[in-house]
Amino acid sequence: MTARHLAVAAAVALALSGAPSRAAAQAGDAGAGKAVYERKCAGCHGEKGDGKGPAAELLAPKPRDFTAGLYKIRSTANKVPTDQDLFRIITAGMPGTSMPAWAVLPERDRRNVLAYIKTFAAEKLKEAPKKVELPKEVASSAESIKRGKEMFEAIECHKCHGTEGRADGPSHAELKDEWGNPLPPANLTKRWTFRGGAGRTEIAMRLANGVLGTPMPAFLDSVEKPEDIWHLTNFILSLGPESPNYATLVTVTAVAGPLPDDPNAELWKNLAPNNIALMGQVIVDPRNFNPSIDLVSVRAAYNDTEIAFHLTWDDPTQSVDEPAKKLFADAISLQFPPQITAGGERPYFLMGDGSDGVYLLRWENGKGVSEATANGPAKIGAIAGGEARGKAAYANGRYRLVIKRPLASKDAARPTFTPAVFTPIAFQAWDGGAGETGTKMSVTSWYYLRLEEPQSNRRFVIPPVVAILTLAAMLLVVRIAKGRA
Ligand code: HEC
Ligand code: HEC
Repeated sequence: MTARHLAVAAAVALALSGAPSRAAAQAGDAGAGKAVYERKCAGCHGEKGDGKGPAAELLAPKPRDFTAGLYKIRSTANKVPTDQDLFRIITAGMPGTSMPAWAVLPERDRRNVLAYIKTFAAEKLKEAPKKVELPKEVASSAESIKRGKEMFEAIECHKCHGTEGRADGPSHAELKDEWGNPLPPANLTKRWTFRGGAGRTEIAMRLANGVLGTPMPAFLDSVEKPEDIWHLTNFILSLGPESPNYATLVTVTAVAGPLPDDPNAELWKNLAPNNIALMGQVIVDPRNFNPSIDLVSVRAAYNDTEIAFHLTWDDPTQSVDEPAKKLFADAISLQFPPQITAGGERPYFLMGDGSDGVYLLRWENGKGVSEATANGPAKIGAIAGGEARGKAAYANGRYRLVIKRPLASKDAARPTFTPAVFTPIAFQAWDGGAGETGTKMSVTSWYYLRLEEPQSNRRFVIPPVVAILTLAAMLLVVRIAKGRA
């Protein structure tokens, strides 16, 4: 959790702890809210509240059209959210979308702007909100998770969300929201991107009353028994970690034996993942404002001759180059400076430039692994005599890939990997099934890679021991000198 997350969580907790009477007593002033709205919200939601602000064109999902009076995140059984629901969203934002958390605004401004956005659909929001009563909470257990998984299949959650929850179900590509915009199902293994929050009660509430204006149905009335809502919630919580735990450094583990080619080999399961966040490439045209791939998990190992990278990432469809259908090959690349210099100079992170190139280890679905040199994203050239190879596996919306290469370079176009040296590394990824190719990609800036020393324990213990011995020797010398004086 970052400080910002903590601040938001604290603000949300504070907001939620307020009794309804207190909230009502603090009902906002729509007149005063208009000014806040025009300064902070209209750029996305539009002056008229129709969701057509100047920024809207580039965004997916689109900013809410407040004139429809439809809200995704409710704790109510009817269509009308409570003020508390709206206040919570305004304060915490909607993860995984461009809707910011407005905890930075004074509470009074948030209440006033809330009152103002309601005026865009006063007629539709006239009915009183009707609170949903969630069934009695069921704690998580192996049994509850098992029951949840059975229900997940029985009531066909997997048709949209996929068997393992990675947004790859058979109907994932056809889903649209109330406004006709394509809307992929949530990736249930990444609950930090849930629009309505990642907490147990929040998830249970989404399952109970659905996400209004989207294909995500309400299930309280269609589960066999009401407590199934909690079994489903426990199953969803079992699908992935609470937070992505992003890495800042990629550690490469020293291994004595051979490095397995098989992406499903035991060794890879035993290494801790280094999770790397990717962002859309928005610097050169054509840009990628709504990237498909936002996270790559990297595991890496080396022995005395080779280095191997094991990469895992989610992609709802497996695709190869078929430009006529606007489909392209899924791909990923690892980027390094061609030479690792002691001064640590790094080329421009976006595949280098005219004067400083980069070295790429690439994999493309259908073509396999190759090595290349790039002087910018439009100038990529294969390196002759490639020595890299790899093997990919795809299942249930997820790629697993192993790329291997000799540690030592045989020419100036490729780097040599040396233990204990901080080596710059960056990543690029393409979801070809979502039309990503060329500069339409996900990228990172430079990270560092470090090959752990094989006998790191001894190496780290020796210097203090040497220091103590040196000190003892000096004291002895001093004593002897004094004794003589
Ligand atoms: C950078 C663009 C952006 C700005 C600025 C912005 N929003 Fe949003 N907002 C969005 C997007 C996008 C969504 C829809 C997300 C979704 O549908 O998953 C949204 C959704 C909402 C919702 C709907 C919640 C629900 O349950 O459906 C509310 C309420 C809201 N915004 C209030 C505000 C307020 C108030 C402000 C100004 C203080 C504001 N927004 C500023 C992008 C923005
Ligand atoms: C018809 C397709 C469909 C079915 C069936 C479906 N979902 Fe969804 N679900 C969606 C879509 C689309 C979204 C994304 C909504 C959004 O982003 O606004 C979603 C979102 C979610 C979310 C995230 C809520 C949030 O706060 O963002 C959860 C959790 C979820 N679904 C669980 C389930 C479970 C469990 C089931 C079965 C009981 C299920 N879904 C059935 C389409 C579906």
